[in-house]
Amino acid sequence: MKTMTLHHNEIHKGPLILINHDYHYIDNHDLELEQQQILLEKRTLNLYHHILDDINGERVIIPVSGYRTFQQQKDIYEKSLQDNGNEWTSQYVALPGHSEHQSGYAIDVTLADTPINLICPHFTQHSICDNFQQRALQYGFIQRYTKEKEVITHIKEEPWHFRYVGIPHAVYMVENNLCLEEYIEEIKHYHIYHPLHYMFQNRLFSIFYVPSSQENVHLTFNDDTVYQVSGNNVDGFIVTIWRAYV
Ligand code: DAL
Ligand code: ZN
Repeated sequence: MKTMTLHHNEIHKGPLILINHDYHYIDNHDLELEQQQILLEKRTLNLYHHILDDINGERVIIPVSGYRTFQQQKDIYEKSLQDNGNEWTSQYVALPGHSEHQSGYAIDVTLADTPINLICPHFTQHSICDNFQQRALQYGFIQRYTKEKEVITHIKEEPWHFRYVGIPHAVYMVENNLCLEEYIEEIKHYHIYHPLHYMFQNRLFSIFYVPSSQENVHLTFNDDTVYQVSGNNVDGFIVTIWRAYV
């Protein structure tokens, strides 16, 4: 048997952290960033390039914005306030501290043959955009801001902004029409003795929520259990167990 220890301060780390108007990003000193055309969290960057390879998109899709520091987000916000005013800015630019770009898990992309727009890149009305979106989903990326969920996300539709949340979470969210805010709530209904079972690509995943407490939380698994843990940046952890092929 092996024991997993969840430390309270780790609820702010991992690909399922919720960053929005209510929950700000907390600096993660373990964050591994890597640059290849764009600066992103290492795994996010690697998967982004896999998507482009799969759809032959290297020449037609250009990354516009990846990782941003707090200061960079502040500069973008303040410049937009001057150029576009308060109402527009608050709909398209997250407040400094509240941007997913600060986590390294978000990327904005544009079509190569359009003028670069740093806040609202052009990424619609072309089949390559749909191909990218569909392929990205298989790698664990969601379109984070959709028209339908504007009331929940407080951000206008952004077809260019993709957020890495991982597999199988991205696919579950899209199949069940949940944005990240809703998914975080949904998973709270599941616990270690009553996990969410979900099949994807011939694997059975078991997903459950563990509330954080001031004490460290210990979970025990069989030695061969493969699992991933992410904080939700709100109040706990999401544990994903990868079962053997079925
Ligand atoms: N455009 C998104 C909301 C951001 O500024 O993070
Ligand atoms: Zn973005």
